[in-house]
Amino acid sequence: MSVYAGIDLGTSAVKLLLMGEDGKIIRTVSKEYPINFPKPGWSEQNPEDWFEQSFAGLDELTEGYKDQLKGISFGGQMHGLVALDADDKVIRPAILWNDGRTMKECDYLNNTIGKDVLSKETGNIAFAGFTAPKVLWIKENEPENFAKIAKIMLPKDYLAYRLSGVHATDVSDASGMLLFDVANRKWSDKMCEICSVKPEWLAKIFESYEVIGNLKADLAEKLGVSADVKVIAGAGDNAAAAIGTGTVGDGDCNISLGTSGTVFISSNKYSVDDHNALHSFAHANGKWHLMGCMLSAASCNQWWMSDILKDKDFAGAQAGITKLGENHVFFLPYLMGERSPHNDPEAKGAFLGMRMDTTREDMVQAVFEGVAFGLKDSLEVAKASGIDIKRTKICGGGAKSPLWRKIMANVTGLAVDTIESEEGPALGGAMLAAVGCGAFASVEEAAKAIVKITGTVEPEPELVAKYQERYEVFKKLYPTLKPVYPLM
Ligand code: XUL
Repeated sequence: MSVYAGIDLGTSAVKLLLMGEDGKIIRTVSKEYPINFPKPGWSEQNPEDWFEQSFAGLDELTEGYKDQLKGISFGGQMHGLVALDADDKVIRPAILWNDGRTMKECDYLNNTIGKDVLSKETGNIAFAGFTAPKVLWIKENEPENFAKIAKIMLPKDYLAYRLSGVHATDVSDASGMLLFDVANRKWSDKMCEICSVKPEWLAKIFESYEVIGNLKADLAEKLGVSADVKVIAGAGDNAAAAIGTGTVGDGDCNISLGTSGTVFISSNKYSVDDHNALHSFAHANGKWHLMGCMLSAASCNQWWMSDILKDKDFAGAQAGITKLGENHVFFLPYLMGERSPHNDPEAKGAFLGMRMDTTREDMVQAVFEGVAFGLKDSLEVAKASGIDIKRTKICGGGAKSPLWRKIMANVTGLAVDTIESEEGPALGGAMLAAVGCGAFASVEEAAKAIVKITGTVEPEPELVAKYQERYEVFKKLYPTLKPVYPLM
């Protein structure tokens, strides 16, 4: 039997998944690496850590299946800037998707160049985490590093380069750079000029399921696998997660509760919403998608439980929660600023509404609800653009919590389908590898054969109505706090 490896290059860890040609998950491996916050709102990682942990993970993952490995592909944290010099050496730590340092550059792009120009060229406007504003930031703040740049790469593409020796990217991840003409699936010369990017710095573009090259011979030998192992382009983690949850049909929705929280709407045609509040990106199946992205989702719960309450019993903390739809405490989940829909790197987290009778359970519950309300904000934008969504898949670490799934269903009013594996991006990566190696004729065919829905959380009309009332309050909180955020 042939086997395929999917590598999800995440923010807290790399998650690897081995899938048989029958679509069965054989094994998963996870390896952590540090994330550094050198200044408030900054977020960086060392690309060497990605390679070392991914390679060690790949070795463990393929144990006992070395001869059967046919292809490797990826889902990767999006938007990060890996700058390489003329010898392909990393110039400085990678600046990540949730880094908010480029406010000035985004202001220049959105207001001096103009959102209309950006939207026409790329289908998107500038957000602090996107890649091109980071290039402008390096130019302004680290001219000596800027002078050395010979290539700019996205995180999973840098990993693919280390494995294959090929400078490649895929359409879904390239979409998040603000240098890519999403409608026509090609680099935008005009955006390169605006952002001081030389076109030769950019990688060659592939569809997500296309082969970019072979695993390098020395690495294949070290791993004990065949030198014929193919490396397939892969996708940004959200597009890969959409593949892994079978979100490939027109209007299909997937919600991811990972470090970030995303609402992903698959679409057969290219479109943008009125104010570019949602990202308009290429999908990994050759089509497109709209997406809203919250910068902190499951990471809010992680922060609250581990860093603040110092409590490792996540399930225990959820057991005493009884006030669904009736919580007087609200949580604003903007721990790293916020992307969708506020586009405000200065936004911050907040608990509001506490009283003397407030319990710890109310505050734990408020964290789950705050993230759910934040995702509803993006769904409301889609609704206002005439997109009618009735159900969604769910994936990511947060999707493991039955309580959070129930809150999601009732806050959004959507039926929430769970699937066998919540490892969306890693499974999607393995599926793209299988398609690239010819095991399936298309991404859709792979999704049909592999992805199985295992359960559904139906929204309960009474609870939906209660949560709608709570949401009306939540909606007022960000605009109220906005004027004071810059003073904090
Ligand atoms: C999407 C985004 C995040 C990262 C997380 O636009 O920035 O979802 O991809 O890894």
